[in-house]
Amino acid sequence: MTKVLVIEDDSLVSRTLISHLKKRGFEVRGAENGEEGLALFRDFQPDLALLDVKLPDINGLDVLKQVKAENKTATVIIMTAFDDMRTTVEAVKAGAFEYLVKPLDNLELDLTIDKALQMKALEAKVSYLLEEKQKEYQIDNIIGRSPQMREVFKMIGLVANTRTNILIQGESGTGKELVAKAIHYNGPFRDEPFIVINCSAISDTLLESELFGHVRGAFTDAVAETRGKFEIAGKGTLFLDEIGDISPGLQSKLLRVIESRDFMKVGGEKVLKTEARIIAATNQNLQELVAQGKFREDLYYRLKVVEINIPPLRERREDIPDLVAYLLEKINRDLKKNVRKVPPEVMDYLVNQPWKGNVRELENALIRAVILAKGDVILKEYLPLEPSRPVRDEDQSPLTRELVPLWEIEKRYIQYVLEATRGSKSRASQVLDISRPTLDKKIKDYDLRIDTSD
Ligand SMILES: Nc1ncnc2c1ncn2[C@@H]1O[C@H](COP(=O)(O)OP(=O)(O)OP(=O)(O)O)[C@@H](O)[C@H]1O
Ligand SMILES: [Mg+2]
Repeated sequence: MTKVLVIEDDSLVSRTLISHLKKRGFEVRGAENGEEGLALFRDFQPDLALLDVKLPDINGLDVLKQVKAENKTATVIIMTAFDDMRTTVEAVKAGAFEYLVKPLDNLELDLTIDKALQMKALEAKVSYLLEEKQKEYQIDNIIGRSPQMREVFKMIGLVANTRTNILIQGESGTGKELVAKAIHYNGPFRDEPFIVINCSAISDTLLESELFGHVRGAFTDAVAETRGKFEIAGKGTLFLDEIGDISPGLQSKLLRVIESRDFMKVGGEKVLKTEARIIAATNQNLQELVAQGKFREDLYYRLKVVEINIPPLRERREDIPDLVAYLLEKINRDLKKNVRKVPPEVMDYLVNQPWKGNVRELENALIRAVILAKGDVILKEYLPLEPSRPVRDEDQSPLTRELVPLWEIEKRYIQYVLEATRGSKSRASQVLDISRPTLDKKIKDYDLRIDTSD
């Protein structure tokens, strides 16, 4: 039950208020002075307090300040008979949620209480989600015992508390984004945004306005002013993915922001400052691009103040068994399955694959194998790495012995995967290794059923 504390010395006001609140279904306690109120704050731990300013012992505002000092998240609504601006300002400054003038209007009171409780619930949810996110990017969740990965962990530890620019290099799927997030979520500005920008996914003009924002009328479609990611990131992290793909024009603009920390919106004239930390990533060899004259050398040196190189999986095969165990745990949790056994010969096989797509490819292979598994064992035949061999199982398999056109097989197989993933389109597109839009189109074209029930 929601607990409300009323701190009010006027017994008539207090009684009326308490009985009104009880009728609304709250658990209510009353205090007649500041001392008693403070004691009840500790013992009763209210979700919300209504606090009178004029109390016989301590001033209500001082009670508020003391409460806030002990518990930043305490929610307090101030009430007073004097409608004066000074007290309002002071109360709000001290962290009061709202300020109500006596005699209280029940409707206004109820609305204010509802708003305060909603806000409180929202705040609790946000801080829970932030904590979960921070847990997700703990260094423990990056798997690897190889000397090369130990080096990577050491670097994360060294740079997390600094603001230097970082360049993360590694083949596709090696965990560049994971490492960038670990740096962000282990640093002092972990509560500020972590913003990803994929520099290769959008056109030059769009990318520029993504990064810096634009003013109204800057180009044909610029109907309203926007804020760029450099501004939105605050003191957080800007993760510039695929940095090797940015155009020469943007390279010089980026260099300018990095050197001076200031920038202008597209079409704008005002100079803005950014405090964001920049982490760039690439799966290309930037040094080679510099040698070929495709990437500015000065920008390259500015970005790689600290360099982290994540080696491909095939160069650290000793990490594979740990990764398999960790990823299987994650996949089974996600898919509510229980396929955790990996026979030694299957592990051997996994350890010796080329893994051109690195950890991401390993993860996708395991997702497929878990979905297709019959019992609780990962079977080699369901790992999609060998020259593919049809899954032969008459009752479950989408394949049959009848001779049918190719599209029929595709249709049945997509249906089969959708069922196996319990209608999760994102999982299904991962397993099928096709994009979401492609999957959506095929679902529409083949008129497939999607059953999301468990
Ligand atoms: N060492 C690791 N431990 C656990 N999971 C990992 C590890 N490395 C990568 N992964 C997982 O593999 C997947 C790919 O990682 P990530 O997206 O960080 O790679 P990337 O290098 O940014 O890839 P790309 O170049 O394709 O963007 C993610 O699901 C990530 O959680
Ligand atoms: Mg990435």
